[in-house]
Amino acid sequence: MSPLTLRGTTFRNRVWLAPMCQYSAAGDGVPTDWHLAHLGARAVGGFGLVLAEATAVVPEGRISPEDVGIWGDEHVVAWRRITDFVRSRGAVAGVQLAHAGRKASTYRGFGEGAGTVPAAGGGWDTVAPSAVAFDGYAAPREMTPEQVAAVPGQFAAATRRALDAGFDLVEVHAAHGYLLHQFLSPLSNHRDDAWGGDLAGRARLLLDTVDAVRAVLPDDRPLLVRVSATDWTEGGLTVEDVAQVAVWLREHGVDLVDVSSGGNVHASIPVGPGYQVPAARTIRETAGIATSAVGLITTPEQAEQVLADGSADVVMLGRPALFDPHWPLRAAHALDDKTPTLDHAGDAAATVLPGQPTGWPVQYARGSWG
Ligand SMILES: Cc1cc2nc3c(=O)[nH]c(=O)nc-3n(C[C@H](O)[C@H](O)[C@H](O)COP(=O)(O)O)c2cc1C
Repeated sequence: MSPLTLRGTTFRNRVWLAPMCQYSAAGDGVPTDWHLAHLGARAVGGFGLVLAEATAVVPEGRISPEDVGIWGDEHVVAWRRITDFVRSRGAVAGVQLAHAGRKASTYRGFGEGAGTVPAAGGGWDTVAPSAVAFDGYAAPREMTPEQVAAVPGQFAAATRRALDAGFDLVEVHAAHGYLLHQFLSPLSNHRDDAWGGDLAGRARLLLDTVDAVRAVLPDDRPLLVRVSATDWTEGGLTVEDVAQVAVWLREHGVDLVDVSSGGNVHASIPVGPGYQVPAARTIRETAGIATSAVGLITTPEQAEQVLADGSADVVMLGRPALFDPHWPLRAAHALDDKTPTLDHAGDAAATVLPGQPTGWPVQYARGSWG
């Protein structure tokens, strides 16, 4: 429950909401009341950072037709209402900026179909570093040099809109087999120009994107990058490769690396409690950069251990937060950390009082232990 400061931004604790697609946009990528309720509930529930889902920087960068985006003014207006509420509850509001590349235009996983959505169903042609399909999806078109060179500017424009929309920070999505991960990995990047070849060449687009985003973010705003620390596949990215990328990210002004794994090819992953924590630790130690750990961190004691043993600076929770939006407040209770005391100010907005980094909502006073 101890606060963390990155640049000029203080997070009330180190339990953060992992980005999770809700596949519930209205029309063209516009967030809805569902997003307000989903993200708002987790801000009330005590998360230090409420990180909005993969949000497309351009329409063709959406994973599914129901994904949210931030490529137009209508998105800024809709997000503003959500960030206003999230911030009023004492959470930092963040957004994960994304381009899905060859994994765009897919069904959302609500049982309506699998694989690529055809044009007749609202889908579109996809692009990628090379014309190599993700198994089970339509083949992408190889991006022209002009198309590649445009990507950093698309992320920078999205960052400007994110600031206008009231977000405190952005996370660049370079994990899970989406566009920037496709460039990083030799399994999906077969280019022989300046954006391919060795690790430095394959990392170039990510670093140019980070530079473009950093240039429009005020100095006091943190920049996060989510990486897949390994492709879990022979011949793919290794933790050592990604630790080297993390060194470059730090040198380019990134403040925290959010360490996930996989997603670029079908692979057998040894999933278990905290299975990605060792990678977060390796990257933290090798690159000398703050990390967050994510993936099957489910109990307060386990989360506390990840932080206490120095594996990561922060834990992110995905599915446990779907089960319990008040996970951080409940964890504080379970660990007998009385930091989240009642807010007796009588002001519904005043959940953050001096000396009380995480506030139990006064409206819920009769449900607290205090
Ligand atoms: C419904 C759902 C949607 C997700 N969407 C995203 C996303 O938009 N961006 C992302 O980087 N990861 C996404 N993930 C992965 C989570 O952020 C997280 O890394 C993963 O679920 C492992 O953490 P957990 O065991 O705490 O759930 C999603 C996961 C779920 C369950």
